[in-house]
Amino acid sequence: DIVFVLNGPNLNLLGLREPEIYGSDTLNDIAGMLEDRARELGLEIDLRQSNHEGHLVDWLHEAQAEGAKAVLLNAAAFTHTSVALLDAIKAITVPVIEVHLSNPHRREAFRHVSLVGQAAKGTIAGFGALSYRLALEAAARF
Ligand code: DQA
Repeated sequence: DIVFVLNGPNLNLLGLREPEIYGSDTLNDIAGMLEDRARELGLEIDLRQSNHEGHLVDWLHEAQAEGAKAVLLNAAAFTHTSVALLDAIKAITVPVIEVHLSNPHRREAFRHVSLVGQAAKGTIAGFGALSYRLALEAAARF
């Protein structure tokens, strides 16, 4: 079974970007950690990152077309703005788990609304890189 791990804008800079908020792990570090855990769980992961909203929409459609078991989605700033991502999640039957490194509810008010969360099966936020791993654990049980 394949699990897509889709990452939105600025997450290519993870490790360098506001490390006091997002931690020192890079997206490659997270990919390695997830691959190890996925192997133990008998899963495969396909991890991608884009700074472009439409790529994330296309990849959600692709997850459906490929029969993915689940999508872990850290839509980053698009979480709070993107009706297109909300609609894409509603348009597919693959369960989507919303993931955040930080806890958006502890932060600025504009991060308190999640459009993605209105269609996600569940949300894991606030545990740094561990948020991704916890989301994978949940996906493994679907
Ligand atoms: C984030 C939280 C978002 O509010 C922010 O725009 C990000 C990262 C997180 O993983 O904590 O870019 O999704």
